[in-house]
Amino acid sequence: MNDSSLSNEKSFWEIECPEIIGESDAIKSVQEKIKKVADKNVTVLIRGESGTGKELVARNIHCKSQRKEENFVHVNCAALPSELLESELFGYRRGAFTGATYNKLGKFEKANRGIFFLDEIGALSHSLQAKILQILEDKKMSRLGGINDIPIDVRIIAATNSNLEEKITKGDFRTDLYYRLNVISIEVPPLRDRKDDIPVLTNHFMGKFSDELGKKDCIQIDDSVKEHFQKYDWPGNVRELENIMKGIIALQKTDFVYADLKLGKPADKEEECLDAKSRNLFQIWDDSKIKKMITDRRDINLKTIRGYYIADVERQAICKALELTQWNRKSAAQLLRVSYKTLLNRIDEYNIV
Ligand SMILES: Nc1ncnc2c1ncn2[C@@H]1O[C@H](COP(=O)(O)OP(=O)(O)O)[C@@H](O)[C@H]1O
Ligand SMILES: [Mg+2]
Repeated sequence: MNDSSLSNEKSFWEIECPEIIGESDAIKSVQEKIKKVADKNVTVLIRGESGTGKELVARNIHCKSQRKEENFVHVNCAALPSELLESELFGYRRGAFTGATYNKLGKFEKANRGIFFLDEIGALSHSLQAKILQILEDKKMSRLGGINDIPIDVRIIAATNSNLEEKITKGDFRTDLYYRLNVISIEVPPLRDRKDDIPVLTNHFMGKFSDELGKKDCIQIDDSVKEHFQKYDWPGNVRELENIMKGIIALQKTDFVYADLKLGKPADKEEECLDAKSRNLFQIWDDSKIKKMITDRRDINLKTIRGYYIADVERQAICKALELTQWNRKSAAQLLRVSYKTLLNRIDEYNIV
């Protein structure tokens, strides 16, 4: 049973596995591997870039495993600071620390007898790595402030988009934990290395979002858009394609994809970005410029000036973030703490090319 299965009334064995769509040899071998390992009670390490489908693979293993009737608990190790994550994972006893006014059940206990999906495992702190190792080796854990060890039976599936071997060399990841997790490893390749999957995924998402968004007539995706999809590198992988398709179905148009999915070499773009910045009419906000704007431009008012100024600063921040990340828009979005989609929209809006 998992969170989504609670909301419908199907019995456990009727729950359908979320389908892993794809026709490439690469995705077929992922499906084969899942089939082989799902019903064996072993730890699995899923590797791949963000958006490739690691969580989907983990959920597939769950629903094909002997633990399918038990919980599937997902925790993203990168989402919380270490102390908070510790109390999320292991729970605490009342009085364990200031603010612990009640007993809290940890996620590991919630996953007991089921599957625990530890996402972004590379972000785990040293002390938490030791605690996870204890669960794998001794099958027990303790709550924060707890006196007794609690027996725990979970099958761990871990996922990472970072290079764990590199982390081991740097001393950031424990070798013994690595070997414990890496009993079976499944590599989910980036979408750019399995472009054969793009047409079937496109059709799949078209059907899915047409249903979800109540759009009865399927929009036609013309050949030039399909060609663009094939040429594009998909840094955000299947998630990016999924979002683009959602946009196409919601807006019932496709013309924005060319602006959203820019083709080209990153090296050239950095220069162009700086160039665009230097061409900017309202770049330098010194005294004389402001005076000129007030006296010469009868078409603008204080509110417009404010808008121009904010836009300039925003554009400068975006250019800087792109420069710092070698035009990796995903990393730039993270750096600016906005969604990837927002960043793409702004890049388009400000004509940063
Ligand atoms: N092969 C696939 N078939 C169908 N949907 C997919 C496939 N791969 C990824 N997705 C969808 O793309 C999105 C991102 O996948 P997810 O498993 O969250 O990636 P990751 O955990 O690697 O970041 C999800 O909505 C997922 O359902
Ligand atoms: Mg994920």
